[in-house]
Amino acid sequence: MEINGKTSVCGLIGNPVEHTLSPVIHNTLAKEFGHNLAYVPFLVENVKQAVLGADALHILGLNVTVPHKSAVIPYLQEIDPLAKAIGAVNTLVKTPGGYKGYNTDMSGLLRAMRSEGITLANRPVVILGAGGAARAVAFMCGFEEVTQIYMLNRSLDKAQAVAGEVNGYFGKELVRPMALDAYDELPNEKLLVIQSTSVGLSPNDDDAVITDEAFYERVAIGFDLIYKPFETRFMKLCKERGAQAYNGLKMLLYQGIIAYEKWMEISVSDETSMMIYEKMKKAMGIDA
Ligand code: ATR
Repeated sequence: MEINGKTSVCGLIGNPVEHTLSPVIHNTLAKEFGHNLAYVPFLVENVKQAVLGADALHILGLNVTVPHKSAVIPYLQEIDPLAKAIGAVNTLVKTPGGYKGYNTDMSGLLRAMRSEGITLANRPVVILGAGGAARAVAFMCGFEEVTQIYMLNRSLDKAQAVAGEVNGYFGKELVRPMALDAYDELPNEKLLVIQSTSVGLSPNDDDAVITDEAFYERVAIGFDLIYKPFETRFMKLCKERGAQAYNGLKMLLYQGIIAYEKWMEISVSDETSMMIYEKMKKAMGIDA
């Protein structure tokens, strides 16, 4: 693509930003669709100035990463209900008066699950963790009408706090907070488990938040939000007990694809999505 007087700019704001895979996603999409668009990482310290400056520069869209996903909210013109409930925004879309914020991390997770044939409605879900990621997953599961969320966390008080918030939002006892070692109390059926702790993240590849085989006997599907390593210890433990296991790379793929769809008002086919997925794997040094 030739950069000229009509080139639109999108980008990522965060700190740090240099290891991001987002330029692979968005610049490949721009090329594939023949859009005159360039996507660049922006190292940002002052979020307010960055958002107001981007608006003044007519930047079409931004992704937002750590540590600005909540800090960006006061500077938005409008916010999507899921992002508002979660309190974290990772995608900004230019509107006439400013930016509208979305959380495509969660819609990306949902689309990644659907792409693997996993549906959330009318089933119980186990969430491991009660940090920022787990809290967002709990809200998303609430929006998707799961029947019950069992939230297992090392610090029970944190799971209780998240349960209080989510249950208050939905007006029912949706989230049941549990200690990490209380999995004996889970219902006696094979469950969907979303691994939302930071345990097992590279370089701590050999760690898993629960290692007891007895827990994995209860797992039908294990979905890890981590994508580095490509196969986490949690995933290995799931597979060893006969469960299906997925990593978080498709979540990363689809959060980007959904952002791009919003910026350009298009829809991206499964075939194009998989082509980009292969490019991301290559960029990460994964062969298979
Ligand atoms: P994120 O924004 O990625 O969710 P976070 O908010 O710091 O990160 O949350 C990290 C999660 O991983 C928490 O659920 C944390 O458990 P605690 O609430 O008990 O701290 C969990 N976690 C991190 N290290 C852990 C460990 N060694 N064992 C068990 N859980 C761990």
